[in-house]
Amino acid sequence: RIHKVAVLAGDGIGKEVMPEGIRAVEAAARRFGIGIEWASFDWPSCDYYQAHGKMMPDDWKEQLAGFDALFFGAVGWPETVPDHISLWGSLLKFRRQFDQYINLRPVRLLPGVPCPLANKQPGDIDMVIVRENTEGEYSSVGGRMFEGTEREFVLQEAVFTRTGVDRALKFAFELAQKRPKKHLTSATKSNGISISMPYWDERVEAIGADYPEVRHDKYHIDILAARFVLSPERFDVVVASNLFGDILSDLGPACAGTIGIAPSANLNPERGFPSLFEPVHGSAPDIYGKNIANPIAMIWCGAMMLDFLGHREAHDAIVAAVERCLVDGPRTPDLGGTADTTAVGQAIAAMI
Ligand code: NAI
Ligand code: MG
Repeated sequence: RIHKVAVLAGDGIGKEVMPEGIRAVEAAARRFGIGIEWASFDWPSCDYYQAHGKMMPDDWKEQLAGFDALFFGAVGWPETVPDHISLWGSLLKFRRQFDQYINLRPVRLLPGVPCPLANKQPGDIDMVIVRENTEGEYSSVGGRMFEGTEREFVLQEAVFTRTGVDRALKFAFELAQKRPKKHLTSATKSNGISISMPYWDERVEAIGADYPEVRHDKYHIDILAARFVLSPERFDVVVASNLFGDILSDLGPACAGTIGIAPSANLNPERGFPSLFEPVHGSAPDIYGKNIANPIAMIWCGAMMLDFLGHREAHDAIVAAVERCLVDGPRTPDLGGTADTTAVGQAIAAMI
């Protein structure tokens, strides 16, 4: 069967790293006999916004709904379009309307990547952060009253539904079950947030009962953040609500080195809608146009996409090539090298 993939390169270095992501996926597809059909879109992007006053056409959902996956670079060009418009007008619409309720970020310290933490070896950091991606603290439920007066009043609710919490937890336990350590850590704050977080803890216990082989524990988010930095080797699968997961999923990759290599996925595990694969980094206007962006995050996203499409062997081949390239291949300047984006992409494709 041929997989239909929409290419949404976006803005800035999204446009520079995307060809290298495609090159790697094509190389793996050739090696393993996988059929991929690509279709490129010039939206969402800030250029599109400049021309049309919106990030995407009104029928974006119809245009994208039939794809098996969305391969996404980055959006944002703060000089011309404010960031809340570029992000809410694109990525956040995808997450909500395509019900991409899992945000998945693998975090690994790879050989050849300088680690900002003291005394950590490759292998010490090998975890996956599972973030609930559609509800929780990012509910949009609330409002303002008495604006501009002394009585000014602002309220925003957090919403935790049984369906929303359970499906995220099930995904995380399933994932932990498949990993060698079979360990799940839940991020909570039930000592301070006294209604929603005890509920979250309760659901962890309830869902965890179905996975007796998975050892699970929980930490309050404050000490968990500290432990990420001090002893990341403790963690395997980490599951968190939308806000806590947002913070941990930037902290994790920062602990494992450059942002230029960190991938992520926004998944609709039931496959009723396309899932989206995107690097953690943004459009990096400060280095755009020089062809020096590190393409590894985008390439690793390609591996995650192939994994999700059912091709674990292709995923493993791409990740192995990335690891090899980091040890003795060309490097972009963020990793201390002098190679350009294309050279790194070509080297990895050749290794695949
Ligand atoms: P950024 O991730 O674009 O850049 C942060 C720093 O990391 C910059 O110094 C940049 O040069 C460097 N960097 C990022 N990716 C790199 C790569 N592949 N290779 C080498 N160096 C790299 O974050 P920033 O500067 O906060 O945001 C820039 C724009 O990107 C904004 O418009 C922001 O809204 C947007 N953004 C979009 C995201 C998305 O599309 N998912 C995520 C984060 C930011
Ligand atoms: Mg974030």
